[in-house]
Amino acid sequence: MTESVSTDAGAFAPAVQEHLFSDAPPEVGRARPPASEGHAEPAIAILGLGYVGLPTALAARAKGARTIGIDVSESRLRAIRENRVDLVDADRALLERELADEHFTLTASLSRLGEADAVLICVPTPVDEHRNPDLHLVAAACAEVVAHARAGQTIILTSTSYPGTTRDLLADPLAARGFTVGEDVFVASSPERIDPGNVIPHADVPRVVGGVTQACTQAAVAVLRLLTDHVVPMTSPEAAEMTKLLENSFRAVNIAFANEIADVCTSLGIDAREIIDAAATKPYGFMPFYPGTGVGGHCIPCDPHYLLWELRSRHAGAPLLTAAMQAIADRPFAIVEQVVRELSFAGRGIAGARVLVVGVAYKPGVEDVRESPALEILGELLERGARVDFFDPHIPRINIDQQQILLSVTSPEPRAYDAIVVNTIHPRIDYGWLHDARLVIDPSGRFQSHPERHASNAEEVVQPERRIAERRAAFRVGR
Ligand SMILES: NC(=O)c1ccc[n+]([C@@H]2O[C@H](COP(=O)([O-])OP(=O)(O)OC[C@H]3O[C@@H](n4cnc5c(N)ncnc54)[C@H](O)[C@@H]3O)[C@@H](O)[C@H]2O)c1
Repeated sequence: MTESVSTDAGAFAPAVQEHLFSDAPPEVGRARPPASEGHAEPAIAILGLGYVGLPTALAARAKGARTIGIDVSESRLRAIRENRVDLVDADRALLERELADEHFTLTASLSRLGEADAVLICVPTPVDEHRNPDLHLVAAACAEVVAHARAGQTIILTSTSYPGTTRDLLADPLAARGFTVGEDVFVASSPERIDPGNVIPHADVPRVVGGVTQACTQAAVAVLRLLTDHVVPMTSPEAAEMTKLLENSFRAVNIAFANEIADVCTSLGIDAREIIDAAATKPYGFMPFYPGTGVGGHCIPCDPHYLLWELRSRHAGAPLLTAAMQAIADRPFAIVEQVVRELSFAGRGIAGARVLVVGVAYKPGVEDVRESPALEILGELLERGARVDFFDPHIPRINIDQQQILLSVTSPEPRAYDAIVVNTIHPRIDYGWLHDARLVIDPSGRFQSHPERHASNAEEVVQPERRIAERRAAFRVGR
């Protein structure tokens, strides 16, 4: 080390790990791991308390770590303190309990990073309007972590990013500060796999982790065992980063393919859902993916672009993934085309038509509209002169293209709409009123497969392939 930094070994440094986390099974529940110096428990700082960071902080606290939750957004901190945040019920109850616990700290003060034995970075990694990685948030967060690093700390990047991020934004700058990575500080990547709204407990989801050195991997494994019982060590941070990109690219390609198969089935007059469900009865070699209105959230529409961007810098490409991402981006516009077509079959044009979009959250059970295809569908419908509304009990208001604020309809009048597009169906919400709609367009089949659908009186629920099949049959008869 060239710079004068404290040489106290932190709670997760290999030298003390033996006492903390031997090969014995990790402790569960609120059993406490042995203490870092001067404290009853090791301290973990979680930087960024969003959809990933807050559940991570609660999971660490549930296993007995002192948790220092740090977020730069005061409004986010206020919402957490008031328990007004989007969490599954189990985490909401945990938060209620932890808000009264002195070992659960919420702060905007980045200097608290220095107190931690381990730091988990959970900040956003979005894409910009050109679908290039927007690295400014993760770069700023890593710079703060590097600036406040002290010897003995284990630092884990959990944000999804391009292979090489952990080395570029953490290991190299720490080395430049004078630390020997793998001896003074321990650096690893362990991309988060959380699925917001999914009730599978954190502890049951395995985590991959790759350290800059073996000692880094070892230190990071010890930290991650506080969060999950299943840790998968890998050979490098790049390997861990690439694993996450494979997982989400796999989903992107398969969702794009499911949409394509839906379109293929439409041309053939076959019900795509019937085909996919039938194929899924095969006990090996097939995994069902279903068509829909597009993809949303912070993962599938964004993460593969981190890979494609990195590949471009190496004059390499991934044509299949590139095509899938383009198809995914185009999907909401294809849905609008379907609305236009169905309206014209019903004898009216899109201009002036009243269209309701059901569910603007990007998936069931969450309050998250980031990258939701519903926003693009609504924006495009407006562009074409439709009069639009939306219904989503989880989302009171949305902003379309930074130009127009829409408020959720509280009690939809189904007969008032020329067409209703089903984007998301949330659990525990009454959709009985949809029975009375004139025309329901349901690209994902969510309403079709919803239990309430069986009692439906809706005049027409359109899955495109059925419609085309009928029309083809009519055409053949008339020929
Ligand atoms: N949301 C998901 O479903 C999901 C799933 C797996 C992985 N991920 C990945 O996890 C990462 C975090 O995503 P998220 O959904 O939790 O984001 P988020 O937008 O919900 O929350 C991020 C939080 O970080 C805070 N923040 C931003 N910059 C900061 C800084 N410099 N210091 C401290 N706090 C800062 C923000 O105020 C915000 O509260 C991303 O890389 C994402 O791709 C997300």
